[in-house]
Amino acid sequence: MPAASARKILVTSALPYANGSLHLGHLLEQVQTDIWVRFQKSRGHQCTYVCADDAHGTAIMLTAEQQGITAQQQIDNMHAEHSRDSADFLIGFDNFYTTHSDENRAFSNQIYTRLRDNGHIAVREITQAFDPERQLFLSDRYIKGTCPRCKTADQYGDNCESCGATYSPAELIDAVSALSGATPIDKDSEHYFFTLPAFADMLKEWTASGTLQPQIANKLGEWLEAGLQEWDISRDAPYFGFEIPDAPGKYFYVWLDAPIGYMASHQNLCNRTGDDFDSYWNKDSSAELYHFIGKDIINFHGLFWPAMLTSADYRTPSAIFVHGFLTVNGTKMSKSRGTFIKARTYLDHLDPEYLRYYFAAKLSGAVDDIDLNLEDFVQRVNSDVVGKVVNIASRCAGFLRKRFDNQLSEHCAEPDMVQSFIAAGDDIAQLYEAREFNKAIREIIALADRANQYIDEKKPWVLAREEGKEAEVHEVCSVGINLFRMLLVYLKPVLPAMAERSETFLQVSLDWNTNPQPLVGHQINDFIPLMTRIEAAQVEAVVAASAEQQNAASQAAAVPVATETATETEAADNTITYDDFAKVELRIAEIVAAETVEGADKLLCLTLNLGDSQRQVFAGIRQAYPQPQTLVGKMTVCVANLAARKMRFGVSEGMVLAAGPGGENIYLLEPHAGATPGMLVK
Ligand code: 2FM
Ligand code: ZN
Repeated sequence: MPAASARKILVTSALPYANGSLHLGHLLEQVQTDIWVRFQKSRGHQCTYVCADDAHGTAIMLTAEQQGITAQQQIDNMHAEHSRDSADFLIGFDNFYTTHSDENRAFSNQIYTRLRDNGHIAVREITQAFDPERQLFLSDRYIKGTCPRCKTADQYGDNCESCGATYSPAELIDAVSALSGATPIDKDSEHYFFTLPAFADMLKEWTASGTLQPQIANKLGEWLEAGLQEWDISRDAPYFGFEIPDAPGKYFYVWLDAPIGYMASHQNLCNRTGDDFDSYWNKDSSAELYHFIGKDIINFHGLFWPAMLTSADYRTPSAIFVHGFLTVNGTKMSKSRGTFIKARTYLDHLDPEYLRYYFAAKLSGAVDDIDLNLEDFVQRVNSDVVGKVVNIASRCAGFLRKRFDNQLSEHCAEPDMVQSFIAAGDDIAQLYEAREFNKAIREIIALADRANQYIDEKKPWVLAREEGKEAEVHEVCSVGINLFRMLLVYLKPVLPAMAERSETFLQVSLDWNTNPQPLVGHQINDFIPLMTRIEAAQVEAVVAASAEQQNAASQAAAVPVATETATETEAADNTITYDDFAKVELRIAEIVAAETVEGADKLLCLTLNLGDSQRQVFAGIRQAYPQPQTLVGKMTVCVANLAARKMRFGVSEGMVLAAGPGGENIYLLEPHAGATPGMLVK
């Protein structure tokens, strides 16, 4: 029963699409949220954590179709898989529901109707690309064509992965539907818009209220300054979602009913537990409401969602807690490098608490990206958790079992030290509250260092061999166990399974809410292994299995199905090793002559001085340098070990480096002053 002073807190993490497996990026967020929720619960607050699968949208419909199953089967399969994965990572959802539920339909209809009745829905016709074969409207990511700028073929939607240009799909050259290959036609259709600009003042106040992280408040502020657009909340059939009540054939856009899914999941939970839903969501609610999300979806949570809630007469969130992206070994997760790691692949080889600890050790309250460096991961977990924390218990437990029947001493030999460990809880709690988990972990590990130092100084293994030092051995080891106990109280939100094993070992509940007193004369159990070291081979196995999945997937490649925000689609991976790079001999070259070439209107013939030799290179840069003599005397970079190539006009003995898309837009590289001909570039 929570105390009267207990806070009522409702917490969510972003709803994963029911379109693919969970990967470690999802887990970063769920672990962050779960640690915070477990912390709040351990402090005696009434904290509820709800989530759900985000089950609607074109992508899910197409995935189901591709697999020859119904959309319902697809989302049921995913719900089962996601539930298992999260549970195995010890994510303690109070409810993991789905947006394709009766509750969500009812809330979506209610909220939409309120928006409409308040004059916040506008209806107008728009023109969109339509696939005449598949008979559906094509969002940007389902249109492919040649980039209008660099002419690279096979570019999706509205940006080119080759040159980075952004454009409208209508500008793509030879655009085709990625679903059927048919040429899209323009087609008109009526769409429903939420009149977001009507909420500009309310949103300015909300974003500036001081509850958001400064970086997020700034970003939202920039968007608000730039002016808001009406938000298209409808999609035409065929679509997997909820039909709009007064608009047959029109469906709510997935992002309309996704955040409403937070409410639906909570309502579904309240129906079971009898908790009072309204007291959380009423306009005058004193409960706290927090959404943990990634930085790619702040527009939905920081603008659309609070505006919708306001129009529909509900409260707004107390805050949104935004985290950065997960990188692995310093770069975006990569399928071909085997660092795009699915939750299940990790779990097949490694203990979930290793990752929970590592994430905690890196997460702060800021929006920075988090890097999972696999070497550091092994080293950090082994050194901190196994080498420092578990070590305290294992060093003391043997003596206590063999000599003292697992009974702690009747008297605490170091009351001040144990008290200081208890007192440290206040600071650590503040850090958890502020989501500064990395700092909390630092404090906890500093305490572990002090505990180990104490044991090192007292040397119970030496005392144990000395006559008459029995009582001292008993006291030192009992102090060690008391210190270990406090560390585990503080680590319990991060390492709940290890904490549970420690509770069995210590025969005490690791409760942060009650004021702990040192354990004296207390009976413990035989030591049980609390956590084993990570072997590098386990991590290698995860990477190998992930790369293998990618091979299998690319062999079975079919129509690509993107996610709704397409944040997970990965550019073709063309990583090379350092050895590959080192094969290229790049040298500084001085251009000593630059001439046009008779009969070749794109080429210049350059004579390059490489310090100890001269060579002739034909370069396709004439349009960019119509007055070639301006190049004479300039330094540039030359590929010196490129096989010579016989051309119609002579032999080209290398290549100069330049940037730019081509034609007039080519820019030769030029080194900073001081570089001299022949210098190696590396
Ligand atoms: O970006 C995503 O993966 C979405 N499925 C998140 C939805 S969060 C909430 F709004 F439902
Ligand atoms: Zn391009």
